[in-house]
Amino acid sequence: MTIRNETAATPTAAPNERRPLTVLFSDIVDSTAIAERMDPEDWTAIVNEAFDRMSRAIRRYDGTIARLMGDAILAFFGAPVAHEDDPERAIRAGLDLIASIETLSARVQREQGVPLRVRVGINTGPVLVGTVGTAMAREYTAMGDAVNVAARMQSAARPGTVLVTAATYAFVAPIVDASDAGALELKGKSEPVRAYEIAGIRAGGTSSRGLAGIQSPMVGRDEQLARLRSLFTIVRAGRGRVACVLGEPGIGKSRLLAELRADVMRDDARTLWIQGHCLSYGQGMPYHLVLDVVRSLLGVTASASDAELRAALERTTKDALGEGWADAYAYLGHLLSITLEPEMAARLAGLEMEAVKRYVASIHQLLRAFSLRGPIVLVCEDLHWADPSSADAIGQLLPLANELPMLIIATSRLDRGAPGWHLVVQARDMFGDAFTELSLSPLSGEESRELVANLLAIESLPAAVRDFILDKAEGNPFFVEEVVRMLISRGAIERQGERWVATAKVDEVEIPDTLQGLLLARIDRLPDDARRALRVASVIGRQFPVSVLAQLLAPAAER
Ligand SMILES: Nc1ncnc2c1ncn2[C@@H]1O[C@H](COP(=O)(O)OP(=O)(O)OP(=O)(O)O)[C@@H](O)[C@H]1O
Ligand SMILES: [Mg+2]
Repeated sequence: MTIRNETAATPTAAPNERRPLTVLFSDIVDSTAIAERMDPEDWTAIVNEAFDRMSRAIRRYDGTIARLMGDAILAFFGAPVAHEDDPERAIRAGLDLIASIETLSARVQREQGVPLRVRVGINTGPVLVGTVGTAMAREYTAMGDAVNVAARMQSAARPGTVLVTAATYAFVAPIVDASDAGALELKGKSEPVRAYEIAGIRAGGTSSRGLAGIQSPMVGRDEQLARLRSLFTIVRAGRGRVACVLGEPGIGKSRLLAELRADVMRDDARTLWIQGHCLSYGQGMPYHLVLDVVRSLLGVTASASDAELRAALERTTKDALGEGWADAYAYLGHLLSITLEPEMAARLAGLEMEAVKRYVASIHQLLRAFSLRGPIVLVCEDLHWADPSSADAIGQLLPLANELPMLIIATSRLDRGAPGWHLVVQARDMFGDAFTELSLSPLSGEESRELVANLLAIESLPAAVRDFILDKAEGNPFFVEEVVRMLISRGAIERQGERWVATAKVDEVEIPDTLQGLLLARIDRLPDDARRALRVASVIGRQFPVSVLAQLLAPAAER
């Protein structure tokens, strides 16, 4: 099968762009045996339905379906467009895909007497990508060992499971539940490949940030923390406030709020801290931020079952609203897609016309009731990924800060084109001086040095290694952590007793894999000419006169 690739440039004879890629293979188990026992038309219909479901799971996370092969699918996460979290997306797609085939399997079992099972293999590694072919038939492909290893993972996976290599697992370990499937001998590979079977996404696991076992107290940011704390003091005294924390990926927005949370809970244990997160693949998922806020209000995680959600919603609405609990229960139950009891479902008449209004009114009702018991802090994280209906609904919650002792804080990267950015603009207009905007800039040289010293807990770090870290990280704490992580994992620095020493490998180190995705994701979103300028610039060096770049980019005739 061929696919048209809208973003790639002119077709080339061979893939020519090197990038990290997460490759997903999925196939139907024993398809030949099943097909033999079935009418070909029935079988074709089943395979089409299965492909449709698998494709939807892949597209949900913005993966690219590279090829359909008989009963198998090959998909890419990271090309032609990279995301900062491609390995996580591939795993989520794999889990969703298996779940969606399980429901189809129940039907096939009933009608045809056989179950339908799929298995998924995933691997992450460097490949060459590009469009190959002619004007008549083009295909976007990836070439490299990483693709073959993903195929081997798929054939080694147990039916109904996702099997990933250690290379993929390294990106997602903090957010998944997995079991070690041992080291697999793969045909054509000299070294065995360690594999992990993914059981699911860990309940409440939202971030893969931070270094396992290595922690630094927050460095700097005293002024920003003090300002947020002063807003909380105002809220405790009975007034509302709205703030936003803006800055680049990894600059420390979430960390600042985590510190604030610890402070606030120490100050006043009655505080109700509600926190909703946007998802990087959530722009096409209506209300996903609002849903997360509501779940936080109910005290449940995203993995809560229908029954758990229903129980938590009933408990919370009754607790807050007493006798008048039923409307909020029905409306929020609808928002949460809970199966409602018939008498509750009856309250939903005419809901379609004014769904947002009723959802928002129910949240208002609950917050108003809870505000009588103590201050409320409502945090909306990563607004740059908010979907339009969430941005709209949260916008309708803002006026509560005029009325209740409530601090509303949003974090966002600087993406003025995102639907969530309207909220920042709206808050500025609505609150004027009562709106606080904090922009986080890179850590100073001294703060970065302090952070490195804290993470590696030593004075004895070789100066060359420290300078390497500071130079690559440019004051971004996430980058600092990732460079340190990579130096340790590649054996470039080693602990010897109380000291860290640099090994010979320190000279081989480049950009950490975990940052490549983040950087590529930003480059891929640039317009074509800016992307080309970046490519050319990267070859010239880190610092150069603009005129050199201008000359190289000028059409040949002007040179
Ligand atoms: N001032 C700081 N001192 C020490 N560590 C920090 C500091 N700021 C951030 N970190 C650490 O750096 C990492 C990245 O920070 P954080 O997750 O807060 O970034 P962010 O701005 O929220 O990024 P994103 O936009 O990707 O969500 C985290 O592990 C965090 O603990
Ligand atoms: Mg964050």
